[in-house]
Amino acid sequence: MKTERILVTGGTGYIGSHTVVELQQAGYRVVIIDDLSNSSADVIDGIERITGSRPDFVEGDCTDIDTLKRLFADYPDIKGIINFAASKAVGESMQRPILYYRNNLNTLLNLLDLMGPNGVKGIVFSSSCTVYGEPDVNPVTEKSPIKKATSPYGNTKQISEEIITDVINAGAPFKSVILRYFNPVGAHPSAEIGELPNGVPQNLVPYLTQTAMGIRKELSVFGNDYHTPDGSCIRDYINVVDLAKAHVIAVERMLTDKTEAPIEIFNLGTGHGVSVLELIDTFTKATGVEVPHKIVGRRAGDIEKVWADPTYANEVLGWKAETSLADTLRSAWDWQCRLRDRGIM
Ligand code: UFG
Repeated sequence: MKTERILVTGGTGYIGSHTVVELQQAGYRVVIIDDLSNSSADVIDGIERITGSRPDFVEGDCTDIDTLKRLFADYPDIKGIINFAASKAVGESMQRPILYYRNNLNTLLNLLDLMGPNGVKGIVFSSSCTVYGEPDVNPVTEKSPIKKATSPYGNTKQISEEIITDVINAGAPFKSVILRYFNPVGAHPSAEIGELPNGVPQNLVPYLTQTAMGIRKELSVFGNDYHTPDGSCIRDYINVVDLAKAHVIAVERMLTDKTEAPIEIFNLGTGHGVSVLELIDTFTKATGVEVPHKIVGRRAGDIEKVWADPTYANEVLGWKAETSLADTLRSAWDWQCRLRDRGIM
């Protein structure tokens, strides 16, 4: 067991919980803070079943600085932060922009404010390929142009990257690794943790697995008239466990002073673009389960195609997406079956 502790904000959420597992398996002590607004404390049981140890957990809201001050006082051994605590639904952010700016920006400001006085060496920030908008050229590298955000959610990611840059350029005594995720999908291979969206899923894979289970009647494919080989949109679907592992490497770099600059930015994707129709086909081949689906009109705001050039992460972090899309989709299906077996869904 390492002596350093990592604070994982939003650690009971989808990507957060998978990252806590990888951190614990790498020997880190972990404390999670989460307000459970979009997750359940049961996730901690799942983490314990996988890793054999239970992360410390504080139920609390990171936009409240006094809550965070108490947490740092209780855990003087925190040396790194991974910040997942954020609202993340693009559509909801159009309806409730203040909620998004408040949650996502105040949380970040509070953490940055408290890191120096509490001797925290670095923060990993969850950013998104959404900062590239509709790219002129694929795959996108970290040097590809940042496009004007098309939603308050996307804007919070861009502003957050700028805030971190300004704070570190002003001489803050810590580092940051900014990770731009492409489309995280799948679940832990144990099926003990996975994605559990509130209400009707907005994202492709949870909608697909719920349709395959018969919870939803059919999956709508949003458009087949894009300029892509089969007409449906193309994304870079990255396995959530592979993604989680990159966070452990990022934390390790900061804690052991291996970073090449005070701020490092990495794309986390597979480097392969996959269309919606290809993904449905891969799911059926991997699981043997048919997915009723129909083509409908385009979804407003969708990007036609985007996929990552992950070379920089591959070379500098020594990290690579390893899990095939078929295995990833099988893990998402196993998780959906587990939810059924537990009577959750
Ligand atoms: N799609 C469907 N049917 C559905 C849901 C999605 O056809 O029921 C399609 C979308 O049109 C898109 C693809 O599946 O082509 C992926 O859609 P998702 O909603 O799963 O993911 P997005 O690429 O739209 O959004 C994701 C994250 C956001 C992030 C964004 C960055 O969910 O948080 O990538 O572009 F901001």
